[in-house]
Amino acid sequence: MMLSLHRQLPQAVKLMLLVAFCTLSDCYDPLDPSGNITVTIDINQRTDDGYKARVTLQNYYQYRHVIEPGWKLGWTWTNKEVIWSMKGAFAIDRGNCSTYTDPIPHSCMQNPTIVDFSSDVSEDSRTENCCRGGLLSARAINPMNSLSSFELQVGNLANDSLGHAPSSLTLMTPGPGYTCSPLIDTDPTIIPDLGGQRQVPAYRTWKSTCTYSSFLAHESPVCCASLSTFYNPTITSCPSCSCGCPNAEKGTETCIRPVDFSSPSNYDNDQEIIQCTDHMCPIRVHWHIKNNYRDYWGVKLTISNYVRNRNYSNWNLLVQHPGLSQPATTYSFNSTVLPTVGFQGT
Ligand SMILES: *[C@@H]1O[C@H](CO)[C@@H](O)[C@H](O)[C@H]1NC(C)=O
Ligand SMILES: *[C@@H]1O[C@H](CO)[C@@H](O)[C@H](O)[C@H]1NC(C)=O
Ligand SMILES: *[C@@H]1O[C@H](CO)[C@@H](O)[C@H](O)[C@H]1NC(C)=O
Ligand SMILES: *[C@@H]1O[C@H](CO)[C@@H](O)[C@H](O)[C@H]1NC(C)=O
Ligand SMILES: *[C@@H]1O[C@H](CO)[C@@H](O)[C@H](O)[C@H]1NC(C)=O
Repeated sequence: MMLSLHRQLPQAVKLMLLVAFCTLSDCYDPLDPSGNITVTIDINQRTDDGYKARVTLQNYYQYRHVIEPGWKLGWTWTNKEVIWSMKGAFAIDRGNCSTYTDPIPHSCMQNPTIVDFSSDVSEDSRTENCCRGGLLSARAINPMNSLSSFELQVGNLANDSLGHAPSSLTLMTPGPGYTCSPLIDTDPTIIPDLGGQRQVPAYRTWKSTCTYSSFLAHESPVCCASLSTFYNPTITSCPSCSCGCPNAEKGTETCIRPVDFSSPSNYDNDQEIIQCTDHMCPIRVHWHIKNNYRDYWGVKLTISNYVRNRNYSNWNLLVQHPGLSQPATTYSFNSTVLPTVGFQGT
């Protein structure tokens, strides 16, 4: 990949490269301070023993995708609720429905885990904004695909009310990293009806916001940056053990040597298989200053994937650099300038 940065000043050597995954403090990303994934449950119809609701996951992160194999949403019912039926997603366990004969609920789990359908699901299992295999694009990159929603019918509520919001919302992507606030009552969502001519508020709307922490997701960094310039043959490589040390003490990072690539592996596919390198990082970003003229300077960015069992087709890279306060042009890839507040060039 080529990223060319043009600016007026010729001195391009003082630079700072920040890559998204490496720099987040706990549950707060200074480069995307209001980023979150909001989970909204809109109760839009009452039934004899419960309600019908639409659940929406909206990714408000500017550059953080939810990638394959997609999100998993879980919660704990506060009473003995069951899910009669679902559209646009499904619960991965039916649970113990032995007290029901006909019909049998979709899930009787006290703590159901919901996953999205893949895109090839049949038409009658779909709803609007569903069925993308759990992928949620970052909002600045693809707003159309930054939300996911599904419908469910909940029953077996205590007969007095619409019940209580589920507790302990969890969002796995599919690994850890997100922490969700309790679902709270908010102003009801206004749902357009009759093709937008009529507006109908939901009976009740519960919302939770889930924020990401790289420390919860990974014990060690997942990428490193190396640097070089056209005028100096020396390459500043990633510091050794940037993301862990190979085969050191028990319980630390392990890796696979290139000679072992073709041998049949008995690795768990949920586990990333990382090629052995000095830095031990899954991803390396190399920043090479290609030229430095009076009117502009250019950089070639090379991103290397050292995870042998992942292809990462839908990636993005976040760069923070004082030169980017001037208009920059990227070649080969699309770029967006994030409206991040408090940008500090050093
Ligand atoms: C979640 O993100 C949206 C959009 O940036 C923002 O309006 C909202 O305040 C955020 N919620 C929280 C609790 O930070
Ligand atoms: C299922 O629930 C019923 C009624 O609550 C209980 O009697 C039965 O033991 C449960 N079965 C299992 C396999 O847990
Ligand atoms: C539910 O209805 C039954 C019978 O109508 C009543 O005895 C019970 O108190 C009600 N429960 C609640 C929580 O309102
Ligand atoms: C990655 O892509 C290559 C080429 O398309 C393919 O041969 C390989 O099986 C893919 N690997 C994984 C882990 O998906
Ligand atoms: C870049 O953006 C254009 C227009 O939005 C789109 O057609 C194209 O597919 C994008 N290319 C990449 C590599 O994302």
